[in-house]
Amino acid sequence: MSPRHFLTLQDCTPAELEHLIQRGMQLKKLRQQGIACEPLKGRVLGMIFEKSSTRTRVSFEAGMFQLGGSALFLSPRDTQLGRGEPLADSAIVMSSMLDAIMIRTFAHSTLTEFAAHSSAPIINGLSDDHHPCQLLADMQTYRELRGCIKDKTVVWFGDGNNMCSSYIEAAVQYGFNLVVSCPEGFDPDAELMRWAGSRAQIIRDPKQAVQGAHVISTDVWASMGQEAEAQARIKQFAGYQVTRELLDLADPQVLFLHCLPAHRGEEISHDLLEDPRSGVWTQAENRLHAQKALLEFLIKPSLVSND
Ligand code: CP
Ligand code: NVA
Repeated sequence: MSPRHFLTLQDCTPAELEHLIQRGMQLKKLRQQGIACEPLKGRVLGMIFEKSSTRTRVSFEAGMFQLGGSALFLSPRDTQLGRGEPLADSAIVMSSMLDAIMIRTFAHSTLTEFAAHSSAPIINGLSDDHHPCQLLADMQTYRELRGCIKDKTVVWFGDGNNMCSSYIEAAVQYGFNLVVSCPEGFDPDAELMRWAGSRAQIIRDPKQAVQGAHVISTDVWASMGQEAEAQARIKQFAGYQVTRELLDLADPQVLFLHCLPAHRGEEISHDLLEDPRSGVWTQAENRLHAQKALLEFLIKPSLVSND
């Protein structure tokens, strides 16, 4: 039987995504109470990072340990992947020894190809096209801090990038309305926008876009791999900085989210993360709890001991 993978939010049903929110909140409470929960004893997660990471690496590695298992950091620089061993061969071999594999990569096709040959679940830890694990944390954060997101309005600012694509999928899967406010030339994936139908629209004018917003979220203007465009993008995205004044135009209960890392003075004003309407530190911590729920969901229950 082929394993369950988590490459985009479309890999789970809305009911499963709701389960992950509930379980993420439960696991968070257990940790706060100092109660151990170790259903993944003896299980091992492989983590392939082709790009840098702070939150994704720490949350997956710490999360696996806290669930009773362990995690291996696999850099392409040190494995045969970096020397051209085919993805399919690597997937067959690694998945025969590991219980799940998280991959942070450039081309999304690397994930789909790896998953096609893997006997263990593959988790997307970010690709050029999607960042679904971040959305698990974002949705748990909104639930904790504001309540149910169904039919609320979420405004995405800036680049129609990997995070934006996962927000488009989230709009459909969690049932909220998404407004994307981006400069021309940086529109989100047209096919995904069509797929989302009336759940997603583009409003270019930032002040118009934030009317009635319950969530405002943004991301760096130059993603990993786009470093050479960074200076040009600062000019191209001028006018799309999220500020306290912009939040003032939204719903009084608006929540500001940012997947981090943030560039103060670029996509956000210097003071935004200190604003009481910002939930970014809870959001970052929730990567841990939400992904523990995901790991538990994807990895089968512990082996029976034969000591
Ligand atoms: N938000 C996020 O994925 O952060 P890292 O790049 O630090 O993992
Ligand atoms: N869009 C950003 C997200 C970082 C978590 C990037 O891909 O670099």
